[in-house]
Amino acid sequence: MTVKIRPLAAGNWKMNGVTASLAEIAAIAESAAGIGGADVLICPPATLIAQAVAAAAGRIAIGGQDCHAKASGAHTGDISAEQLRDAGAGFVLVGHSERRADHGESDAVVRAKAEAALRAGLVAVVCVGETNLQREAGQTLAVVGGQLSASLPHGATAQNLVVAYEPVWAIGTGLTPTPEDVAEVHGFIRRELVDLLPEAGAVVRILYGGSVKPSNAAELMAVENVNGALVGGASLTAKDFLGIASVYE
Ligand code: 13P
Repeated sequence: MTVKIRPLAAGNWKMNGVTASLAEIAAIAESAAGIGGADVLICPPATLIAQAVAAAAGRIAIGGQDCHAKASGAHTGDISAEQLRDAGAGFVLVGHSERRADHGESDAVVRAKAEAALRAGLVAVVCVGETNLQREAGQTLAVVGGQLSASLPHGATAQNLVVAYEPVWAIGTGLTPTPEDVAEVHGFIRRELVDLLPEAGAVVRILYGGSVKPSNAAELMAVENVNGALVGGASLTAKDFLGIASVYE
């Protein structure tokens, strides 16, 4: 039986964007009605979340890029899932490879953050992916499987969890895996999800991320078990992001 999964076209602005960039979010939101076949999400930097929610006018979802595992407390500079929710966010990325690398986030930390997201009523977008060295050593599936089993939150459902496969070597490099490679990893993730989450695993959305552009989106999004994109650089302008999301018109 083939289950219909509503895709998600998501943008991660990373440490980019100032108030002038809100015009891009407004432009994406205005065109969202034309992207009838997918949900749309932009994750701007935390400084812009509340204003992005206003600019989105309920037409697209806004998310955070990270959250602390605790709801509040003495954690200077951190932001809780509850605070993101209070600012109007509906989603939060956790375990992005840049967080894992720059901030030493382990799978256990990622799981705690994902559970915080669920506690606060946010959808957790759990990011996984192998490095170039791991791929060359033939460890891709082992690495991704290990990250999944150790970082998925307890209590996950198809409504509160999204998984994003982002090969580290494809992020910001212009390199992408072949559709066959994407199919292999996404098929593996699907089987692992069904194993780990017997109720929800068949319908949890699995996004592909890493150098998605308007020119390669159609090919990548057509791969089996690819239920949307997590876009970095090409999500910073409405023109490029809509060129990707228009795959789901
Ligand atoms: P790029 O699309 O810039 O390669 O970034 C992907 C990414 O890391 C999204 O989270």
